[in-house]
Amino acid sequence: MDLKGRCFLTLKDYTPEEIQWLLDLAAHLKKEKKLGLHGSRLQGKNIALIFEKPSTRTRCSFTIGCLDEGAYPTYLGGDEIQLGHKESIEDTARVLGRLFDAIEYRGFAHSKVEALAKYSGVPVWNGLTDEFHPTQVLADLLTLIERFGHLAGLKLVFVGDGRNNMAHSLMIGCTKMGVHFSIVAPKQLWPDEGLVSMCKQWAEASGASIQLSEDLEEVRGADAVYTDVWCSMGEEAKAAERIALLSPYQVNEALMQKSGKDQTVLLHCLPAVKGNEVTEETFEKYADVIFDEAENRMHTIKAVMVATLGSDLPEF
Ligand code: CP
Ligand code: NVA
Repeated sequence: MDLKGRCFLTLKDYTPEEIQWLLDLAAHLKKEKKLGLHGSRLQGKNIALIFEKPSTRTRCSFTIGCLDEGAYPTYLGGDEIQLGHKESIEDTARVLGRLFDAIEYRGFAHSKVEALAKYSGVPVWNGLTDEFHPTQVLADLLTLIERFGHLAGLKLVFVGDGRNNMAHSLMIGCTKMGVHFSIVAPKQLWPDEGLVSMCKQWAEASGASIQLSEDLEEVRGADAVYTDVWCSMGEEAKAAERIALLSPYQVNEALMQKSGKDQTVLLHCLPAVKGNEVTEETFEKYADVIFDEAENRMHTIKAVMVATLGSDLPEF
């Protein structure tokens, strides 16, 4: 599989075979790391890490992924560089493209990461925008594979803000990989209709299905329940409105029981607001899988960097 030179902006641009290959590569890199082996697949590469929003997992995963494979990460905080403030994004992109071998970007408008990709001339990786969070979905899929041994035929139910970056990206990733995908949310918080139609086509090809529902009974048969914060970064002013809308959708023991299966897991991209989208008790019950998922951010992000920029890739 040759992904050299590609950007990673959303999973829309990747085929199921390419996504599976990234997951296989991540599992391979994880195994190497557990054996104490460090690689040199990114030896000498300079990587810009732009963060206009805060981050723990994504920032640390990109940084450690770089260092494990011999690259040099440079962290650029949102207020510290001229990105669309004193200098146009097009100009900053062209400068960074001359200095760096690749760029990670976390921020607000998705159009910004697209502009960086268009004008920098180097691979650009989306570390989260208002609309999409594709590296998180790779970690989620790897975690499901580790738990269930496969993806196709599983059922994942996202409960909460069904129009946020995680709901959008999970809908793409699941439908491409044959995972039956449901969103349970009040209608006002259902996902973008254009994206739903696109995902329906991928679902048809992979044998998956998509359901949008306001009814918690949709959790029946779920192998994984997924939730995320009710107010994403940048939406803090909507807190009261969201709490009112989403309180009936809190993930708790009664909701998890609705799956009717013993093996159902709870996934959360983190950070979690316990007492809102999930109770403390339920979060702690599923902490093992949730923190596997957090660890898998690093292995999957490393896989994206190695696949699109690295050399000496393993054969599968
Ligand atoms: N899940 C995730 O993206 O976490 P951070 O915001 O800490 O990077
Ligand atoms: N939807 C959340 C995801 C955080 C990883 C946010 O954008 O804040």
